[in-house]
Amino acid sequence: MANNLQILILAAGKGTRMNSDTPKVLHKVAGSSMIDHVIQKAKVLNPSKITIMINKSLLVLKKQYPNIQLLIQEPQLGTGHAVQIFRKKNRSKNINLLVLYGDNPLIDIDDLKKIKSQLKINDVVIMGFHTQHNSSYGIIIEKNNQVEEIVEFKEASLQQRKITTCNSGIIALSSKALQLVSQIKNNNTKKEFYLTDIVKLAKKYNHKIKVVTAKEEKTALGVNDMNELGMAEKIMQDQYRKKAMKGGVRLVAPETVFLSKDSVFGKNVIIEPYVIIGSKVKIGSDVVIRSFSHLEKCIIKNKVIIGPYARIRPGTVLEDNTKVGNFVEIKNSKINKNSKINHLSYIGDTNMGQNVNIGAGTITCNYDGVKKSKTNIKNGSFVGSNSSLVAPVTLGSNSIIGAGSVITKNVEDNTLALTRSEQKKVKLSMRKKRTK
Ligand code: UD1
Ligand code: MG
Repeated sequence: MANNLQILILAAGKGTRMNSDTPKVLHKVAGSSMIDHVIQKAKVLNPSKITIMINKSLLVLKKQYPNIQLLIQEPQLGTGHAVQIFRKKNRSKNINLLVLYGDNPLIDIDDLKKIKSQLKINDVVIMGFHTQHNSSYGIIIEKNNQVEEIVEFKEASLQQRKITTCNSGIIALSSKALQLVSQIKNNNTKKEFYLTDIVKLAKKYNHKIKVVTAKEEKTALGVNDMNELGMAEKIMQDQYRKKAMKGGVRLVAPETVFLSKDSVFGKNVIIEPYVIIGSKVKIGSDVVIRSFSHLEKCIIKNKVIIGPYARIRPGTVLEDNTKVGNFVEIKNSKINKNSKINHLSYIGDTNMGQNVNIGAGTITCNYDGVKKSKTNIKNGSFVGSNSSLVAPVTLGSNSIIGAGSVITKNVEDNTLALTRSEQKKVKLSMRKKRTK
């Protein structure tokens, strides 16, 4: 039955409870938007097609996911209305549909696989979960082990609210059950078309209904406000930390290290307390990241030491055996083997050769207020402390820059360059005595 499985991700809701100008599903958890988490998990099920129901503010997704169909729901009259729109667009097709919610980033792939396989022998498969703390979820009402209906929390009686089996929102419908969405009405307190009403309809038509219980309560968390977003971050970080440690990464104080969905680690990686690994960071083997360092969109090769207090920004590649010390910022630069930038420096838009030593306080002046320019530092160069390299500029191989220089012209290979005014000597006897 579930051979032609399509997935519909609902994301058109206004997300009013977020109190934010950013559309709800674009808020990030562990470095990726909530909708991205859902999309990546949906793909694992190998559906024939993925569709996202959006409002106009999410048209930006088109660029990021060119192979995913976007349907606009305007106005948003409820989750049932969203599926009605999907069905109208796909009326003639024989589709088994898995509906996911864009605000449900923690869903578990194994649970989804279970739902997919249950759809082969049922018409409606609901993912339920158990919670003692329901204040918003739909409640799954069962009688004699048969699902009767889902009642939204707001509309549930006090007696019904005592039931601890709740609706995660994830639901799968056979092509037969999908046809029933057109019968969903909006006669409820919110005057919305609730997708959950499909359960009552399916029961009326004697369709087979099954509840699959989520492995863990936390995977069902729907994010509706900033508190729940914070909770989702906490849960997901915990999952990523555990995964990293299982893979051999030493997190000295795991609860203080923040990772991303796509963080990649080699062997023998040590991460000291209070480190943030943003998205798209690839770390090789034998790497130490000292406390209070922040990395994003960068590649760290092997035997590299970073920090404490280092900032590695997008487009940076640190080759083998490089060292980046305290209060150093590197952006869009390649640092080749054995080079060291140990203290208090800014290196931007730079191609640095091998065996280069950058002295404390060196700044690449890459921006003239209008455009960014490149700095080239060739193999074996030595830059004295407190130097400014005004880009575009090239330091030849094995060149030396005298401390405190402002370098505005290219420096040839094997040459010392320095710009420094002469030191004066003034006898103290020439000076008036200080009164105090
Ligand atoms: C929904 C379920 C509830 C379940 C909970 C789980 C319904 C009626 N209720 O409630 O039983 O326990 O999720 O988290 O389905 N959306 C649209 N179009 C709309 C309205 C919503 O695409 O017109 C999208 C939202 O963007 C969101 C998802 O559907 O991603 C769920 O909507 P939301 O308003 O968060 O529903 P809940 O009140 O959480
Ligand atoms: Mg929700």
